[in-house]
Amino acid sequence: MWKTKITEMLGIEYPIIEGGFGSFGTSALAVPVSEAGGLGMITATALRTPEGLRQDIRRARSLTNKPFGVNLTVMTCPNIDEMCQVVIEERVPVVETATYRADKYGKRLQAAGVKWIHKVATMKHALAAEQQGVDAVVIVGLEGAGFKSTLQLPTLVAIPWAVKQLKIPVIAAGGIGDARGFMAALAMGAEAVYLGTAFMATKECPISERHKQSMAEADPTEPKYRERCLAPPKPEELQRVMGERDSAPVDQWLLRLERVMLKDSPDMPDLTGDEMTEEGVEEEILRSLPGSLAVAVIDKVVTVRELIENMISEAEEIRRRWSIC
Ligand SMILES: Cc1cc2nc3c(=O)[nH]c(=O)nc-3n(C[C@H](O)[C@H](O)[C@H](O)COP(=O)(O)O)c2cc1C
Repeated sequence: MWKTKITEMLGIEYPIIEGGFGSFGTSALAVPVSEAGGLGMITATALRTPEGLRQDIRRARSLTNKPFGVNLTVMTCPNIDEMCQVVIEERVPVVETATYRADKYGKRLQAAGVKWIHKVATMKHALAAEQQGVDAVVIVGLEGAGFKSTLQLPTLVAIPWAVKQLKIPVIAAGGIGDARGFMAALAMGAEAVYLGTAFMATKECPISERHKQSMAEADPTEPKYRERCLAPPKPEELQRVMGERDSAPVDQWLLRLERVMLKDSPDMPDLTGDEMTEEGVEEEILRSLPGSLAVAVIDKVVTVRELIENMISEAEEIRRRWSIC
């Protein structure tokens, strides 16, 4: 009933994919998503070392027979070459890459039989990814959390715009958190949805209860959501960082660019090192990536299975309503 090009490609029951989370995207959340019929995603950045990633993949395998993927975020993933090798050796069926210059890894993974999905914020990057041969592309609309672009469009416009121009399957992301967003995305031509914030507000997500509750109670017009997602970056800071493009090492430059896009100072210290306490990491997530405008449709903290089953049963109800109109 929910067969799409993506469910067929990945061998999953529902066209629902978990987003990557650099600080906490481990098997603790990926396994329940896969078990409930979606595609769980282990984020290599969250495991920090290739050995940590290998162990987490093995842990996931011991807990589920269903497929799951690995997210390799080029800008933040340490030892990405070795991480890529672990994915190949452990026979993970699908990898999602994110940010820039991912083709080197994507092509290597495809040559080893791994499906390659790439996540982008703009049409220009989606077309470039198609040219590079990706198997599918995730398009994140303006409502979403994560890396921002001045050329990003709202999800409602970005998805049909992309479907019109691309031949590869499009996966919709950005502000989707319930059956209405799910059905809208499929109606716009997406072959699956990709959820970040909605999976953060689940019982299994390894962030604090305080953070989850704050998302369930949040008003999307609060500045911390609106500004992160919608406000343009400060022109003088964008210009300054763009001017450093050819002089700074690419990883450092991309990190500085991300901060400007998220409306942070590019000069703030890197707080993601090993010396960070758990409390400190939590504070950092709350401050820098609290979630997206999807908080508008999140009313309570539920289990991953409840989130997916509610989404599917409410989507089936919408289909029934439409069929009698
Ligand atoms: C706290 C947090 C951390 C994230 N970390 C990453 C990351 O490391 N790599 C990545 O590709 N995307 C990351 N994202 C983006 C999500 O994977 C996803 O693209 C986004 O949340 C989708 O929008 P939504 O939250 O509206 O569903 C992160 C998002 C949040 C909220």
